[in-house]
Amino acid sequence: MHAWQFDHYGHYGETLHWTERVAPVPGEHQAVVRTAAMSLNFPDLLIIQGKYQHKAPLPAVPGVEGAGIVEAVGRDSKFKIGDRVVGFTHAGGTLADLFVVHNNSAWTVPPHVTDEQAAALSVVYGTSYFGLECRAHLQAGETLLVLGAAGGVGLAAIQLGKLMGATVIACAGDQVKLDICKREGADHGINYKTEDLVERVKALTNGNGADVIYDPVGGEIFDQVKRCIAWGGRLVVIGFAGGKIPSIELNRILLKNMSVLGLAWGQYLDRGMPEPGQAQLKFYDWLAKRQINPVIYRTLPFSEAKEGLRLIESRQVYGKVVIKR
Ligand SMILES: NC(=O)c1ccc[n+]([C@@H]2O[C@H](COP(=O)([O-])OP(=O)(O)OC[C@H]3O[C@@H](n4cnc5c(N)ncnc54)[C@H](OP(=O)(O)O)[C@@H]3O)[C@@H](O)[C@H]2O)c1
Repeated sequence: MHAWQFDHYGHYGETLHWTERVAPVPGEHQAVVRTAAMSLNFPDLLIIQGKYQHKAPLPAVPGVEGAGIVEAVGRDSKFKIGDRVVGFTHAGGTLADLFVVHNNSAWTVPPHVTDEQAAALSVVYGTSYFGLECRAHLQAGETLLVLGAAGGVGLAAIQLGKLMGATVIACAGDQVKLDICKREGADHGINYKTEDLVERVKALTNGNGADVIYDPVGGEIFDQVKRCIAWGGRLVVIGFAGGKIPSIELNRILLKNMSVLGLAWGQYLDRGMPEPGQAQLKFYDWLAKRQINPVIYRTLPFSEAKEGLRLIESRQVYGKVVIKR
């Protein structure tokens, strides 16, 4: 088989190359899937640089999610050959002709879901659903502030926040992205590069602040973000696309009677918990009812995978980049 492989850690432009690679063999509880479509995620940039929490042995293949047809099964796999499935692979591997999935982190795909949708859905909706529903317990009528709102997890958070009955304030770095956020359901948009985030959030919430803050960015802007929370609010820490891991003073947490909640979606899968599979069924149902809609910025052939990574790196992307056969 062929795969986009990196032999050492570094920038994808220099280290990633299309090469022949030994086909994977499924182990216990595993299956091998022939890739129909995969989607790139921000963590792929980190995986290739060796900066991600999970490191596959080198030479390795990026890509943490993909959809396709089961071609081989190991002992006690829940799938059979020919099943159409989607899978999450924490240490990478889907940017290839074939990839391995485990029972804990792969699900069958119903006919109404396209390969592209299947490949684009699990990570971003899984993360945002667990962040908003299972961690923050977002309630109808509350105000949700979404950072990095035009990114993959951000747009999923906007759609799910609206589905849960919240008023959604989207925060992004340019007008094109804010227009996309509005199109996907956001009630208000704030350009954090040109507007005062704290003042605008206060103005939009009668001075109260946001009940729930969904933050996949961290970085420098967090100094303002932490001043935007309502009394009794919940801050969900999703990631650090902004590069810097920020901190928050304990007195602020005390005075605001607030909660700071971490969310690591992949760990629910690694721990073999049933909730991600149950959530996946909900996503398929909401998709059928057009209550959610994975936003696909660009679909590219396998030969243009590096261009897909460049689009994510340059922050042009809104929603997802899908790589398809
Ligand atoms: N906790 C979990 O389980 C989990 C799961 C999936 C992803 N994540 C994390 O969530 C974060 C976002 O992932 P994603 O897939 O949504 O990424 P994405 O599509 O690339 O979006 C990230 C957004 O962050 C903003 N941003 C601010 N500073 C940035 C910088 N220096 N470089 C790049 N983007 C920057 C950008 O918006 P503006 O240009 O508008 O500022 C961009 O739209 C990542 O840190 C990822 O690792 C966490």
